[in-house]
Amino acid sequence: MVEKDSDDHTPAEEPIATPNFIGLLLEVEQDAMAAIEASEKPIDQLRIELLGGKSELARLTKQIRRVPEQDRAQVGTVVNQVKQKIENALSEKTINTPQGATEPIDVTAPGTLPPVGHLHIVTQAVSEITRIFERIGFTRVRHPEVDWDWYAFESLNMPPNHPARDEWETFFIKYPEVSSQNTLEVIQLHTSGKKYKTIVLTPHTSNGQVREMEKGKLPIRMINIAKCYRRQVDVSHTPMFHQFEGLYIDRNVSIMHLKGVFDYFVKQFYGPDREIRLRPFHFQFTEPSFEVDISCGICHGTGYVTKGQKCRLCKEGWLEMAGSGMVHPVVLKNGGVDPAKYSGFAFGWGIERAYMMKSGTKLDDLRLIYSNDVRFSEQF
Ligand code: PHE
Repeated sequence: MVEKDSDDHTPAEEPIATPNFIGLLLEVEQDAMAAIEASEKPIDQLRIELLGGKSELARLTKQIRRVPEQDRAQVGTVVNQVKQKIENALSEKTINTPQGATEPIDVTAPGTLPPVGHLHIVTQAVSEITRIFERIGFTRVRHPEVDWDWYAFESLNMPPNHPARDEWETFFIKYPEVSSQNTLEVIQLHTSGKKYKTIVLTPHTSNGQVREMEKGKLPIRMINIAKCYRRQVDVSHTPMFHQFEGLYIDRNVSIMHLKGVFDYFVKQFYGPDREIRLRPFHFQFTEPSFEVDISCGICHGTGYVTKGQKCRLCKEGWLEMAGSGMVHPVVLKNGGVDPAKYSGFAFGWGIERAYMMKSGTKLDDLRLIYSNDVRFSEQF
């Protein structure tokens, strides 16, 4: 006889003894616990498989009517206990599984490399220049980048209001009040005389000349590399840039030494085929003074790339690189060096410009160097 189910019209099934049904439920529970323990499937998927509408537990629950009616409440409680146990095991697994680690991990796969940086181009140039000069006995030194007007101008034969100062678009700073800045140097200098008046952001590295002489050791072979500041911003100027300043003081130093050192540096830094040329110029702190040009690396000093076609980098075969000259006797005196016994030469170069000439990179905006944009820096 076929008995119809009153609710969902599915055929009635064979009755099942309560202990057997509970036994089946406990089996489902055991299988589920084993699956949770062993499976590497995502937790959400496991939850659907073990507790969802098509799970073994759901299938069994639907058959609860096969147990004698008076036992159904008791069996129902067991069903709920099983459900709860599976639910708890799933939550525990969620807590103990690090996010994203539910996928299998291939421990032999190559890792993701962190991005590797490198030194800024100016730092690279500074180390290279230092190494080149060290080989011929020059020592890298540091002098203040914020300094007394005395060292930046006056001691270099440029008294206040001297028109030659106009060449350096200088940032001036008021000197600190003695009471607010108790460093020994400020007190000593401030009280010792008229010399130290204003403070400047050094517009060139020449402030290192007299400072180096004041160390009182001769001969001097210094290479002072530092930041410089000028009130100029456009495509070929940044308000902060770098210079390297050479100073050589000894007995019988002549222009020949100056030329020899330049020649050596230019061949080391730019290559053996490059030449230098000195052009007469004027600086208050050197006499005689020169501007230093190097032969253009593109047209090799001819000014033309092919017949009739002018070189676009230099236009006339030479690139202006530096200021230089024989140290003026007044400057030697200001540094406590006797000009009757000693002579010397000095030179100052801009590093950003020197580097651009070397790499052949014709930057149409020098400010990019300090834009802090890795897309620029990565190219060097
Ligand atoms: N200080 C000069 C400048 O910035 C360069 C220079 C240095 C000239 C040393 C002569 C001697 O232009």
